[in-house]
Amino acid sequence: MTIHIGAQKDDIAEVVLMPGDPYRAKWAAETFLDDAKCVHEVRGMLGFTGTWKGNRVTIQGSGMGMASMSIYANELIRDYDAQTLIRIGSIGGMQERVKVRDVILAMTATTVSTPSSTIFKELNFAPCADFGLLSAAAEAAKKVDVGVHVGNIYSSDTFYDERPDLNKEMQRHGVLGVEMEAAELYTVAARHGRRALGVMTVSDHLLTGEALPSDQRETSFGDMIDIALTAAFA
Ligand code: ADE
Repeated sequence: MTIHIGAQKDDIAEVVLMPGDPYRAKWAAETFLDDAKCVHEVRGMLGFTGTWKGNRVTIQGSGMGMASMSIYANELIRDYDAQTLIRIGSIGGMQERVKVRDVILAMTATTVSTPSSTIFKELNFAPCADFGLLSAAAEAAKKVDVGVHVGNIYSSDTFYDERPDLNKEMQRHGVLGVEMEAAELYTVAARHGRRALGVMTVSDHLLTGEALPSDQRETSFGDMIDIALTAAFA
């Protein structure tokens, strides 16, 4: 057990999917895994372990933001020896060609800061996905009827944005979407030599103001989880 994860060591699988929302972890485990059981509920940040096509998988909520992601990624890696960590979740679209319901595979994650920025000081470290996972996810996505984009995303520290000028610069430089966790996941995984990837569904759009209707959320998130699981065991 760790400070934030109440599971026994054997309760956590080598492959961990990490949605921000603990209730999405519950839904994903009940929908996609066989024999899913809740392995801990410390602070309500639920974790579940079960099997997918005979492979053990844990689905653990990360909470919102890089500070929270940092806690769970560190403990999963350092105390539970997680090898493959895939963020699943929502992302706001930032390019016209990126549509609500599309899936974004984050090749790299631009950020102003992460909890890790205290280590890097003047260095602009470039957090990036594991190439094997990324290419397996891109391959898996071809078999799913959904628009897919692979590229740079923005991991923001804030949801309520006070720097629209920064978003404009990122849009100008081809950044696909904004979320709040991937850069720190990639950085912590890199530090420990583990595999990480972000597979995210576009839930809203910064340019159009459009948002995914609630009745389409489950199917859309289902596509993303299917891609993530297929890539994890490719
Ligand atoms: N996650 C989903 N949509 C987002 C947005 N617009 N900003 C930050 N994180 C998000």
